[in-house]
Amino acid sequence: MAVQWVNRPNLDFRGFSGQIASGTVSEGDAVRVLPSGKSSRISRIVTMDGDLKTAVAGQSVTLCIEDEIDCSRGDIIAAADHPPEAADQFEAKIVWMAEEDLIPGRAYLLKIGPQMVSATVQQPKYTINVNTMEHLAAKTLDLNAIGVAEITTDKPIVFESYETSRALGGFILIDKISNATIAAGMLNFSLRRAQNVHWQATDISREAHANLKNQRPAVLWFTGLSGSGKSTIANLVEKKLHRMNRHTFLLDGDNVRHGLNKDLGFTEADRIENIRRVGEVAKLMADAGLIVVTAFISPFRAERQMVRGMMQDGEFIEIFIDTPLAEAERRDVKGLYKKARAGELKNFTGIDSPYEAPENAELRIDTMAMSAEEAADAIIERLLS
Ligand code: ADX
Repeated sequence: MAVQWVNRPNLDFRGFSGQIASGTVSEGDAVRVLPSGKSSRISRIVTMDGDLKTAVAGQSVTLCIEDEIDCSRGDIIAAADHPPEAADQFEAKIVWMAEEDLIPGRAYLLKIGPQMVSATVQQPKYTINVNTMEHLAAKTLDLNAIGVAEITTDKPIVFESYETSRALGGFILIDKISNATIAAGMLNFSLRRAQNVHWQATDISREAHANLKNQRPAVLWFTGLSGSGKSTIANLVEKKLHRMNRHTFLLDGDNVRHGLNKDLGFTEADRIENIRRVGEVAKLMADAGLIVVTAFISPFRAERQMVRGMMQDGEFIEIFIDTPLAEAERRDVKGLYKKARAGELKNFTGIDSPYEAPENAELRIDTMAMSAEEAADAIIERLLS
C-alpha cells in the first residue's frame, strides 16, 4: 500500500491511510516500510466501519504499526517477506499527450500513485504503429504517439510492472514549468544495471574538502546570449577571486565543447545534454570545495532549474548576463551572428533557436549600464555576502 496521508489526529494515534494495491494484510503481519527498509508489525487495520482483522487489494484502510518508525506520504508499506522492488531506471511504454514533443534528457515530474520524483526519458527505442503494431525508429514522441523508452528517476521508486499492478506500475509525466500532464505510462521492468551500481561511501566529506580551503563552495552559473559577455565577466570574476586566495575553477562553453562535450552540437537535445554534463561536473567540483564559475548560454529554464536542484541549498547562484540581442549582434565578436543571418549557421541562439531569459536569477547584470569590471565586483559582493 502506498501511503496517501499520515493520519495523526492526536498524540495517541498514528495511522497510514491509503488503498491496498495488491495482496492482503492482517493484524500482526510483519511489514517493511520502503524505501527506508525499516520493519515492524501491523497493530490495527482501521476503517470507517470499524477495525478489520484482514484487508485485501482494493480496500481503503488506515494501517497502524507497532513501532514508531519513519513513514511518510509516498512511502510504501509492504509484506516484510515479499516487498516490491525499488529502482531508479526502467523500461516503460509511454503514451504522449502533449502538443510539444518529448525532449529526451529533459527532467519531468513522474507521479506514480502518491510517489513523485524527477525523471528523464531517453530517446525512444521505438514507437508503435497502432494499426499494424509495427515498431518504428523514432527520435522523439509527438502528440498521441506510443513508444517504448528508458526512464531514469532521481530517487528510487517502489514499483511493480504494470502487468502485475496498475497502482504500482502506472504513472504520469508532468511538465515542471506548466504543470500540465504530458504523458501516461506503464513500467515494464527495471534495468538490471540500476541494481548493480551502488553509491560508494567515502570518508573525506564535502565539508572537509571545503574547510581545508577555508571557503564555502558555490556555483556561479552565468547564462545569456552568445556574445553577451559571459566569458569576459566570468574570467574577471575568477581572476579577482584567485587574487583573494579563493580556490576556483572556470568552466567555459567553448572550452568544454573541445573536450568532454566535443560530441555535442547545438540541437535542443544536445544543448540539454551539454548542460546536464556541465551540471554534473560543477557538482563534483563543488563537492571538492571549489567555487565554480560556469559560462554557458544554457538557453532553457528547465535545465538551469535541473542544475540548481543538483546543488545544496543556496549554493547555486544564477547570474543573468543581460545584453539585448541587437547589442550582442552589433558586437559579434566571433562573427557568428553574421553567419547565422546569412543562413550558414543553423540553430543559432536568438536567431533560429530560443533563449529563455531567467525569471528569478539571483543576479541580473545589465551590460548596457555596467562595465565588465563593475559587473565582476557586483558578482563577488553577492557571492561573499
Ligand atoms: S549551450 O546553448 O549549449 O549552453 P554553449 O555555451 O555550450 O551553448 O556554447 C555556445 C558557444 O558555441 C557560443 O558562444 C558560440 O561561440 C558557439 N556556437 C556555435 N554554434 C552555435 C549555435 N548554433 N548557437 C549558439 N552558439 C553557437
